[in-house]
Amino acid sequence: MYRVGIITASDKGSRGEREDLSGPVIKKKVAEIKGRVEHYVILPDDRQTIAERLKDWADNQGLDLIFTTGGTGFGPRDVTPEATLDVVERLVPGIPEAMRAESMKITPRAMLSRATAGIRGKTLIINLPGSPKAVEESLDWILPALPHGLDILKGTTGECARGG
Ligand code: MTE
Repeated sequence: MYRVGIITASDKGSRGEREDLSGPVIKKKVAEIKGRVEHYVILPDDRQTIAERLKDWADNQGLDLIFTTGGTGFGPRDVTPEATLDVVERLVPGIPEAMRAESMKITPRAMLSRATAGIRGKTLIINLPGSPKAVEESLDWILPALPHGLDILKGTTGECARGG
């Protein structure tokens, strides 16, 4: 079982002016890897606000995995990758590389997501794009590999020899 947090970055969502459809998609999909969503919040597209929440959930709540959705594009208020880079200690470039490479087979616009991923302490933080469609597609590619990485992070396995 993995303890999961979801941050939806959306100015409109945080003001209650837009329903968050992407958070629920993440919640549904993480159940496939025995992820249990313990924290979920919609925050404005503000770098410091997002960074502080990431830090709190990693350091004080000890979550295994935090997904963000939204704020990875080119809009002037799209700052989720910057907030993530403010708090992670080690980068995990392969995860956004895989998301973009596989998503490019569906839409060339996948290259417009600046999503990043990294580790703070024992918490893996992964940015996802904002739309529910993009979230579903991105998770399809990365979820199967995550349990192994999370188990290594938690120290419950050191074995890479077997498995796909
Ligand atoms: N990735 C997938 N798999 N499917 C998509 O439809 N949309 C792209 C991209 N990544 C998309 C995707 C688009 S149109 C944009 S602008 C960027 O994600 C950034 O989205 P965001 O600003 O909502 O995070």
